[in-house]
Amino acid sequence: MQTNFLGTPLRTPLVLASGVLGNNKAILERVWENGCGLPTMKSIGPAPRDGHNNPTVIDLGQGMINAVGLPTPGYLNMDAEWHELNGRKFPINASIYGGSVAEFVQVAQFVAAQGPEFIELNISCPNSDKHGMLFGVNPDSAYAVVAAVKAVVDIPVIAKLTPAAPDIAAIAKACEDAGADAICAINTAGPGMIIDIESRMPVLDFKKGGLSGPMIKPIAVRCVYDIYNAVSIPIIGLGGITTGEDAIEIIMAGASLVGVGTAVRYRGITVFNRINKEIDAWLCDHNTTMDEIRGAAHREDK
Ligand SMILES: Cc1cc2nc3c(=O)[nH]c(=O)nc-3n(C[C@H](O)[C@H](O)[C@H](O)COP(=O)(O)O)c2cc1C
Repeated sequence: MQTNFLGTPLRTPLVLASGVLGNNKAILERVWENGCGLPTMKSIGPAPRDGHNNPTVIDLGQGMINAVGLPTPGYLNMDAEWHELNGRKFPINASIYGGSVAEFVQVAQFVAAQGPEFIELNISCPNSDKHGMLFGVNPDSAYAVVAAVKAVVDIPVIAKLTPAAPDIAAIAKACEDAGADAICAINTAGPGMIIDIESRMPVLDFKKGGLSGPMIKPIAVRCVYDIYNAVSIPIIGLGGITTGEDAIEIIMAGASLVGVGTAVRYRGITVFNRINKEIDAWLCDHNTTMDEIRGAAHREDK
């Protein structure tokens, strides 16, 4: 199911979510060979960072809770990864983050020069100039990051939003006004916490973590639905998408592409080909197309 996204042809409408499989070329290529149209890299930050201590990821059955803590070698320490990726035959979406607008600009400029097809701004990270408030919960902060990055890169910029925003549609609109070429929604939900009742202590070393997987799908569908009403740029919809029917649901909310993260854990790396087949089968059974069903759930709003 070939598709075109912001001028780049993609073999399928499925996107690998950032952070689930890292930045190694061999794994990103394997994902692409298994039916993912656009692999996204793990978010790259301004300086080396270890992330949080273990345990960082717990499977809850209906999804996962994680407090990985954005570990990164730092954008200046990835020569080997970029060198390998240079010879690739597949498109990539490079995810980045910073602790200030200036850091986002620094990382974006360098990363865009390494040749990814897209750059994704993970604005679900704390803004050190604003006492750690997430960039993505405030329309002005979101606008500032996107506008500053747009001024220094010439590849399409995707703003990745957090469901922690009180009004995610307003954040999406601010990103669109700042020049974002697309929106990606959602990052993990929460934060949540699990407590081990025998030790009477939180299980994660960091105590709180972001939720992902099937249990957050209704939040993702609601966010994409709200964003679709507010912007005209395309949306990558993700959050709990595990089956072709889940993908159809988020497309009906308004997504143009569909991201898959935690489902890789539940269904393995072949999840992409399987979801593609399930989407095709559903469309065929209902004698319809992706274009016809995109945003279908909004019929009564228009
Ligand atoms: C272990 C783990 C690491 C993640 N790392 C990142 C990251 O580095 N950058 C980012 O933007 N999102 C990151 N995410 C969020 C995912 O990209 C995705 O937005 C979220 O998990 C919801 O999708 P899912 O339910 O399909 O996993 C991570 C998620 C998990 C589970």
